[in-house]
Amino acid sequence: MEMKVSPSEIFIFPDGERRIQVQERVVDEDIVIIQPTSSPVDTNYFELFLLADAAKRSGARSVTAVVPYLGYQRQDHVFRDGEAVSLEVIVKTMQSVSIDKVISFDLHTIKIPEIFSIPMVHLSALELFAKEIKKQNWDGLDTVLVSPDMGGIRRIELISKMLSDMPYATIEKNRDLATGHVEMATITGEITHRVLIVDDMISSGGTIVKAGEALKKKGAKEVYVFATHPVFSDEAPKLLQNSVVDRVYVTDSVLVSDEKLFPKLHILSISEMIAQSLKQ
Ligand code: R5P
Repeated sequence: MEMKVSPSEIFIFPDGERRIQVQERVVDEDIVIIQPTSSPVDTNYFELFLLADAAKRSGARSVTAVVPYLGYQRQDHVFRDGEAVSLEVIVKTMQSVSIDKVISFDLHTIKIPEIFSIPMVHLSALELFAKEIKKQNWDGLDTVLVSPDMGGIRRIELISKMLSDMPYATIEKNRDLATGHVEMATITGEITHRVLIVDDMISSGGTIVKAGEALKKKGAKEVYVFATHPVFSDEAPKLLQNSVVDRVYVTDSVLVSDEKLFPKLHILSISEMIAQSLKQ
């Protein structure tokens, strides 16, 4: 966008508290804060809240929060009695610090924007993935798209349309809510030579590793993964590198630190899409 980044100071006190200062005159300016809320999730969220508050108190006309990866989005309802709806708490806090608009990518469910009372722009990396699939000439015969769980059906239908109605299959996944352990149940649809798994995020890597194994057992020879958010918790990079999947495409919605990079990983950039959205 050929715009400069305004300096801000984030000072951390010995007890861990943060002092945030916007170091430029922002009176009557429209401010954009770019803050993915991946790990450390709470710290990143709190920095976002304090930055927004600092900008508004300093006279900013508006604050747009670009949150390429929206942390806590999987906790969007009560799964088990007694649980908090964490995402609602995040949304309320964003609104209470006077954030005017939020831009994010590939949300876990299409219902999430409805939780916001402020404008929420829901962008998707699916187009970027479809472009890459065409570039690799994987859009011909012998290829099938796969959603590794039933929650991803809409996502898979959308990318199938972008690829001239490429056939797709789905896997029914069971996750133990207490341990997070994943098991693949049934695969619905025909599995061909090449499989393209499409998902919103990779966290522990369990879903992708298990899906890859199940698909190879069903006859797939090549398995490629397209997942927007490389959350990569715990041993995910190691598990993915040692898995049966051949290549893993993600975006830069979350920064992958050098020590988490691995040979099978390919990172595509969403920065252009963010710039386009901000220009509108
Ligand atoms: C689940 O519904 C999501 O779409 C992802 O499949 C899931 O969050 C990935 O998590 P993990 O990598 O820990 O299996």
